[in-house]
Amino acid sequence: MAAPRILLIVGGGIAAYKSIELVRLLRKAGMTVRCVLTRAGEQFVTPLTLAALGENKVYTSLFDLKDEVEMGHIELSREADLVVVAPATADLLAKMAAGIADDLATTLLLATDKPVLAAPAMNVRMWLHAATRRNVATLRGDGVTVMEPDEGEMACGEYGPGRLPEPAAIKAAIDRALANPPTIVPLTGQPDFAPANHRPLFGRRILITAGPTHEPIDPVRYIANRSSGKQGFAIAAAAAEAGAEVLLIAGPVPLPTPPGVIRVDVETATQMAAEVQEGLPVDAAIMVAAVADWRAAETAGQKIKKDGSGQVPPLALAENPDILASVAKSPERPPLLVGFAAETNDVIAHAQAKLARKGCDWIVANDVSADPMGGESNRVHIVSKDGVDSWDRLPKQAVARKLMEKIADELEKRIPLERD
Ligand code: CTP
Repeated sequence: MAAPRILLIVGGGIAAYKSIELVRLLRKAGMTVRCVLTRAGEQFVTPLTLAALGENKVYTSLFDLKDEVEMGHIELSREADLVVVAPATADLLAKMAAGIADDLATTLLLATDKPVLAAPAMNVRMWLHAATRRNVATLRGDGVTVMEPDEGEMACGEYGPGRLPEPAAIKAAIDRALANPPTIVPLTGQPDFAPANHRPLFGRRILITAGPTHEPIDPVRYIANRSSGKQGFAIAAAAAEAGAEVLLIAGPVPLPTPPGVIRVDVETATQMAAEVQEGLPVDAAIMVAAVADWRAAETAGQKIKKDGSGQVPPLALAENPDILASVAKSPERPPLLVGFAAETNDVIAHAQAKLARKGCDWIVANDVSADPMGGESNRVHIVSKDGVDSWDRLPKQAVARKLMEKIADELEKRIPLERD
């Protein structure tokens, strides 16, 4: 197979220096790399550095291509197998989403018929801004692969998602994109995402718990359950898509943070309870986590060893805090409080009892008799004091979106927002 050809567009921003390492990795893997530097990019890396490492001419302006005998911009944009934008600044993403072509980089991006991969880097607030969320959703709907930025301390001193992914991670994404080119959504196609202007939860703050909790027995053992966290994460993603500010408090699950969601990872029920309390007040809280009912009464500081006698160690349990019930009783009880319940039998009756016991507004009762936890779909019944709303079996993502519509309507009734 011929060596893959990469057209690398280097945007401005302090992270641009990492593009140097990226070029080195791509060259080492035998790929051909052509670089385009935006004007802002030139403030951070020089064309000379990229040319030396990439062993290719570096293009910085449309005038570099004036001599169309050598190479025109259409050709430059199409002779690559993959176009990579790293770092993709908020400005570049916005121009890409809007189809603006006012310099060489954006002209190439508009003219290309090749798959495009963008590795964003920007300040956390810019990444979380509604405009960027919208642009990322548009680009993904158009078939552009937009990576999630890394989370951490930023050059500007703030903390959160927005750091350029490490060059090795970008290289891995490039390998994946080359092996599996993303489908470009045809112009007539119906992209599978909520239209960017449908944001019924805009202006709302929503807290979501998800995943299992792990309750340590000793430094190497813990009590856990089979919750995959998928439904809770899908709900967080749908809430953010619907425009809400989302705080996701997640037990230990290896799932990526949905775009636009602020995530706090916890391990135990006690930590989850504390983070939930910290996260209040919110407009709505949705408790999807499968919180462990019990924890080890005492956690051993060292690994418990067999003593050779054949005697098993005693394992005393203590009850964990009921997070949902305590939020229901707290002075900061959200105007809409939703619990989840996975049941195998008498689903509605159990959910009604749980609704009363926990003091929440709705229980989303989940019939898990046919499908164990971790599956891809759910058949749910929304149980409230007003009755039962039963939905067909749906993919978890569809359950999440439908639930967000229902929550948006309910919030509008309970605490209407003044919109202009
Ligand atoms: N929940 C919680 N804190 C707990 C236990 C449960 O916040 N310690 C929440 C869950 O996130 C869920 C709801 O309560 O929203 C119901 O969880 P479930 O485990 O079904 O409730 P239990 O009270 O443990 O009921 P069961 O006896 O059926 O296990």
